[in-house]
Amino acid sequence: MTDKNKQPGDPETTGHSWDGIEEFNNPLPRWWLWTFYITIIWGIGYSIAYPAWPMISKATPGLLGFSTRANVAADIETFDTMNAPVEARLVSTDLTAISSDPELMNYAANAGRAVFQTWCAQCHGAGAAGATGYPNLLDDDWLWGGSIEEIHTTVTHGIRNEQDPDARFSQMPAFGEILEAPEIAQVVQYVRKLSGQEFDAALAAPGETVFLDNCSACHMEDGTGDRAQGAPNLTDAIWLYGGSDAAIAQTVTNARFGVMPNWNTRLSEADIRAVSTYVHQLGGGE
Ligand code: HEC
Ligand code: HEC
Repeated sequence: MTDKNKQPGDPETTGHSWDGIEEFNNPLPRWWLWTFYITIIWGIGYSIAYPAWPMISKATPGLLGFSTRANVAADIETFDTMNAPVEARLVSTDLTAISSDPELMNYAANAGRAVFQTWCAQCHGAGAAGATGYPNLLDDDWLWGGSIEEIHTTVTHGIRNEQDPDARFSQMPAFGEILEAPEIAQVVQYVRKLSGQEFDAALAAPGETVFLDNCSACHMEDGTGDRAQGAPNLTDAIWLYGGSDAAIAQTVTNARFGVMPNWNTRLSEADIRAVSTYVHQLGGGE
């Protein structure tokens, strides 16, 4: 290697030359090199001590046995242990006595809100206001009953599901197979009348007879419904499926069959009581 620019005392060059510019072959600074070696040793040590290398089903566990999963499980256990006494009391207290015990009430309302947001909000809405086909749980209009016992039964066993033989059950027939089309048109107008909406008087008059013959066994002669059968009150302005001509005609022709899952196989009795208490104190509880 000949270099016309090289001065005496200059370090060796790497031999690379770009347009006459050459690169000195300086050794790496010592502090840098040592830091580099230490990071390598640290990295090896870390991957031995902590979970690190991905394997087929999970990573190598590490000698220290550290696991974020175990930490969460331990945290949950701490809270479970902390809550165990109040949960035991919640389960052993009479349902109707829960609301007069401030500590229980406070716990049930808070735990119940969490359960509701996790398990119930998909259908009943985050604020429990419901949606078409899913009842509003804030008002004092109840299909099956708004006392704490009735709510507890509804939540425990569910409604018209096939999983729990004790589920609440009733079935409105699909009247499309029972009544003639004109009769359906008539009874729809009578339901419009019952609910205080605009109606066709010429159809509603014969509709009353259709109603008394076919509907009153469940919805009662005055149309106020029957909680024993989950048959809605048809005289209020609160609709599960809708009060328009079309929605009522649809309900009467095809029926609806709303289903709610049972929770006794998914939630503990303490959670069921908590969420029932939460729903009960939302405003419509009886
Ligand atoms: C998959 C949807 C779904 C989920 C999830 C659900 N529900 Fe329901 N729930 C319904 C339907 C549908 C009805 C009405 C059934 C009917 O027509 O009678 C209902 C009815 C009720 C009723 C009776 C209301 C009344 O007027 O009598 C209560 C109380 C209730 N739900 C509470 C809950 C609670 C508490 C949870 C969570 C633990 C929950 N529901 C989860 C669908 C659901
Ligand atoms: C065997 C009992 C039964 C009979 C008979 C019955 N219903 Fe129903 N009806 C119910 C039940 C239970 C519901 C709740 C809806 C469901 O199945 O999810 C309901 C719901 C309704 C609704 C929906 C209310 C809403 O809030 O959206 C209307 C409207 C209705 N019925 C009208 C009628 C009319 C009109 C007749 C007669 C032609 C009739 N029902 C006969 C049990 C009955």
